[in-house]
Amino acid sequence: MKLAVVGGGSTYTPELIDGFARLRDELPLSEIALVDPDERRLGLLAGMATRMLARAGHPARVTTATRAEEGVEGAGAVLLQLRVGGQAARDVDETLPLECGCVGQETTGAGGLAKALRTVPLVLDIAETVRRLAPDAWIVDFTNPVGIVTKALLDAGHRAIGLCNVAIGFQRRFAAALGVAPERVSLGHVGLNHLTWERAVYLDGEDVLPGVLADHAEEIAADLSMPGWLLRRLGSVPSYYLRYFYLHDAVVEEQRTKPSRAAEVAAMESALLEMYGDPSVDTKPELLEKRGGAFYSEAAVALVASLVGDRGDVQVVNARNGGTLPFLDDDAVIEVPARVDARGATPLPVDPVEPLYRGLIAHVSAYESLALDAAIQGGEERVRDALLAHPLIGQAGPADELARRLVDANRSFLPWA
Ligand code: G6P
Ligand code: MN
Ligand code: MN
Repeated sequence: MKLAVVGGGSTYTPELIDGFARLRDELPLSEIALVDPDERRLGLLAGMATRMLARAGHPARVTTATRAEEGVEGAGAVLLQLRVGGQAARDVDETLPLECGCVGQETTGAGGLAKALRTVPLVLDIAETVRRLAPDAWIVDFTNPVGIVTKALLDAGHRAIGLCNVAIGFQRRFAAALGVAPERVSLGHVGLNHLTWERAVYLDGEDVLPGVLADHAEEIAADLSMPGWLLRRLGSVPSYYLRYFYLHDAVVEEQRTKPSRAAEVAAMESALLEMYGDPSVDTKPELLEKRGGAFYSEAAVALVASLVGDRGDVQVVNARNGGTLPFLDDDAVIEVPARVDARGATPLPVDPVEPLYRGLIAHVSAYESLALDAAIQGGEERVRDALLAHPLIGQAGPADELARRLVDANRSFLPWA
């Protein structure tokens, strides 16, 4: 099978290639097409990918294209991992909201909205090309904000599923704490992308979360930069992104004194690109582990293998709600365990969601639908409405000011501005 990676010039690509090489029996590939408008990065990553596959004795050939029109034809799966505007645009998402007292983050709050505005039109464009040239392909979206981008794709009728590494990261983390193989652990994972809680941790089908919290709350909380007592009080494990809600003001204070994550990542990217250009480097550099994308490749391989191989196993993905969470619209996109087969991903039933989580999930889901309206239809007023509806902004003054300033800073990426 041919698999296309849009955003193939990303410094993350060796993470994926490493997974394709290790898990080649699970997902046999004959061609990996890297698609990226940046010719320099495309060349560096194609060289690196080719060397990694050769070292692993993997038979796939690596091809390159600067436009989706040239790269996706005949693909069985298309992975989207692009970043419009690169780390420079991310830096604005992470710093500008701070000036209004709001958290600066690339997927949460005002920064996440700016990213959605830049990203949705381009992703929809690429998806139309996929529909034309690779009509049977599954589109797997890692491009953030994954919940909003996946909803955009599904609303437009594409065969799309959204994917994030938070769940697989927790599965591995809990397995390590329990001292067992990851396959024995599954999750009671619920919420929206980057707004999830683990309400259960199943070891061979039995919920062991209370014991995990009793024995490991402090260390798990430390990984999440949250206090242990908070996990104990919730009785669940929130994702790292809940920090931006539960500890909002403290995070804003901290962000005001530290370099942005975009600046850190930009420095790592320069170092990584230099390594990828070195013909003697043919394994995934350790430096890549300092990025947030651990286990992305395993999650991607498992998802694509189940879609094309009709395996019917359970994986945590972003898919249509369809009544799974009755307090949300049916067409909302949620992140929950789902059965994955050739027809796509069907969420499993979820136990009733407690008010402790339900209100926040509903609030952010409503924001996501307004954010998508703003991204598709444009207009500063729609941007303002989305900000007003977001629980981390929600005040008229900051919503107005952020709408104006974010649109201004992103004008060159917005088809309507
Ligand atoms: C995690 C999230 C991704 C996000 C990444 C950021 O993996 O699930 O959605 O893109 O972190 O990592 P970075 O190294 O770019 O800060
Ligand atoms: Mn990147
Ligand atoms: Mn993610």
